[in-house]
Amino acid sequence: MTTRRLLLAVETSCDETAAAVVDETLVVRSSVVASQIDLHAAFGGVVPELASRAHVETITPVVTQALDDAGVTAADLAAVAVTSGPGLVGALLVGIAYAKALALGWRLPLVGVNHLEGHLASVYLADAEVPFPQIALLVSGGHCMLTRASAPGHYELLGETVDDSIGEAYDKVARFLGLGYPGGPVLDRLASGRDDVLAFPRPMLGEGYAFSFSGLKTAVVNHVRGDPGFSEADVAASFVAACMDVLIAKLRRALEEYGDPALAIVGGVAASPVLRQRAQALADEFGTRLLVPPPAMATDNAAMIGVAGWHALTASGPSPADFGPEPDLRLRFA
Ligand code: KG4
Ligand code: ZN
Repeated sequence: MTTRRLLLAVETSCDETAAAVVDETLVVRSSVVASQIDLHAAFGGVVPELASRAHVETITPVVTQALDDAGVTAADLAAVAVTSGPGLVGALLVGIAYAKALALGWRLPLVGVNHLEGHLASVYLADAEVPFPQIALLVSGGHCMLTRASAPGHYELLGETVDDSIGEAYDKVARFLGLGYPGGPVLDRLASGRDDVLAFPRPMLGEGYAFSFSGLKTAVVNHVRGDPGFSEADVAASFVAACMDVLIAKLRRALEEYGDPALAIVGGVAASPVLRQRAQALADEFGTRLLVPPPAMATDNAAMIGVAGWHALTASGPSPADFGPEPDLRLRFA
């Protein structure tokens, strides 16, 4: 039996129903993710009402499985954490209502967690020692932002996308090519080992820390429409190369400006092998430590919510009893 305190974390912000048990030293005792990808694939993206209904059906088995896998019961828990935003309001509401009921019934403290802080905390799932200050790039389906963190929960915004996130651009390009949802893994696979032969734009390459991916997506669409004999693999490789060139250029600028000892890359797009390789090469060049979550923990999961939940509990205690979903929640910046 463990003497370490245990926290149950729940995540339902988008299309994954997830639960995890994380101990106070941030060791993950269990992590269960039920993906709704098959449900939404036919629509080329997440359908909010279907996502909420699937969370309602799946949340009890997922939480039960997380407790079983960790070999614990409610009596062993010290706290509950749940994603409070950002995300789809109906999807968030399922997790929050469920976690509130558990916390009330089991008389446990409950903490609401910002999903973005969850992603930023996901590097603890790979490394117990996380150096600060760090340059942290958050690249997911919903977000593309470059921050500087002085400690967990203390961020400065360097720049973000002015239009689409990078994951959104991957998903839109994949949908246009008829490759299904989500676009990241399939475009990565097609692009793997191919040269970048098509001259797609590198938007805002020279402009500070802001990003833009909507024009790049349009350039891909125009190329495909104008060339009926186009090669899917060439398009994928050239699109991925354009995205990566932009990300790496911004990271290089930040490392040149700040010279921080760590570079964190988090969010679903951090599962990309090519992004990991190029970021590692960049980190080596600057003598900086690269921090990335394990590939399976880059996309949405509850283990990262558990880590951020411990950070939030330690820093500011439980959330007020009346907290609710915050679909547009942002990071708090210094
Ligand atoms: O973090 P996440 O699971 O959900 C949000 O919080 O948005 O990120 C999902 C995004 C999707 O846009 C998906 O296409 C992208 O992450 N993604 C990838 C890969 N796996 C998932 N992008 C590039 N390469 C991948 N291997
Ligand atoms: Zn996410």
